[in-house]
Amino acid sequence: MTLGSRTRIQGEPSVTKPLRKAVLPVAGLGTRFLPATKAMAKEMLPVVDKPLIQYAVEEARAAGIEQFCLVTGRGKTAIVEHFDIAFELEATLRQRGKEADLRNLRSWQMEPGAMVTVRQQEPLGLGHAIWCARAFVGDDPFAILLPDDLVLSQTPCTMQLANAYYETGGCVVAVTEVPRDQTNRYGILDIGADDGRLAEVRGLVEKPAPEDAPSNLSIIGRYVLMPQVIQHLSRMERGAGNEVQLTDAMAKMIGTVPFHGLRYEGRRFDCGDKIGFLEAQIAFALKRPDMAEAVKGFLKNYCAEL
Ligand code: UTP
Repeated sequence: MTLGSRTRIQGEPSVTKPLRKAVLPVAGLGTRFLPATKAMAKEMLPVVDKPLIQYAVEEARAAGIEQFCLVTGRGKTAIVEHFDIAFELEATLRQRGKEADLRNLRSWQMEPGAMVTVRQQEPLGLGHAIWCARAFVGDDPFAILLPDDLVLSQTPCTMQLANAYYETGGCVVAVTEVPRDQTNRYGILDIGADDGRLAEVRGLVEKPAPEDAPSNLSIIGRYVLMPQVIQHLSRMERGAGNEVQLTDAMAKMIGTVPFHGLRYEGRRFDCGDKIGFLEAQIAFALKRPDMAEAVKGFLKNYCAEL
C-alpha cells in the first residue's frame, strides 16, 4: 500500500481530475539580479542557450500540461513574444536554408490559444500572483512552476509531481532538504507519515527561524494544487515580508484535502540567485554532448591556474 492511499481523506473521490493546467508567475521584480533585470525579465535569462521560462514550459508539457497561464507584470512582454511565431525570423531562416534552426523553433511552438496571460499590476507576493490567475484555474487542479527554479533530473520534476498526484490526489509539493541554518529563506514543512519519498504534510511555515523550523524540508518552485487555494488567497492576508504568501493559503488546505511533499529525484538550481544561476550554467552545459568536453577542459585548466 502506498503512503498516498493510506492517507487519502475519507469521502474524497478516489478518481482524481486530470492535471492539464499550469500557472507560471513571472511578475516578480528580480531584485537579486539587478542590474541585469532592470529592463529585462529575469525569466528570459538564458541557461546555456534557452531562457528559464522555456525550460519551465517544456517541463510542464512533458507532464501532460496543455493550458498555460503566465502571470506577467511590467517589462515582461519579451516572455509573451518568445512563445509567439516570429514570421520574419522564420522567413529569413528558410531563405538561408537553416532548416534545423527552423525545425527547432517550431518544435516548441504553442498551440493557438494554449497560452494566456493575466496581469499582476503590483508585485504583492507569489500568493497574489496565483490569485490573479483565478479565472484560468476555475475548478481544476493546477500545477505551478516558478521558472527561476530550474531542476536537472532524469524525469522532469513536474512529471514526478503529476505521477504522485495521480497516486495520492490532493495537493503535492516538491521538497528538498536544506541546511538547518537556511530555513529562514524557504517555506518549510511539518510532516507526519513519511515513506522516504512521499511525506504527509501536517503544517507549512514560511521562512521560519532555524530554532522554530519544524523540519529542514523546504518547498521548491513546483506545486500541484487544488483550486480551493484560490478561496484562501482571496482573503489577501499578508504574511512574511508583508506579502500575500502562497504558503499561508496552502497551509489552510491541510486536513481538508490530501497534502503531500514529494522528495523529487534531481537537483534544483535557484536561478534567481547569482550563484545558483552560475551553477546551473555549468551543470546544464556539462549535460550537453556538444559542450561537455570543452567546458570540463576549461574548468580544469582555469581552476589549476588559480
Ligand atoms: P521571487 O521570490 O524570486 O521574487 O519570486 P522576485 O521578485 O522574482 O525576485 P527577487 O527576490 O526580487 O530577486 C518567485 C516567483 O514568483 C514570482 C516571480 O516572478 C518568480 O517567478 N512573483 C513573485 C510574482 O509573479 N509576483 C510577485 O508579486 C512575487
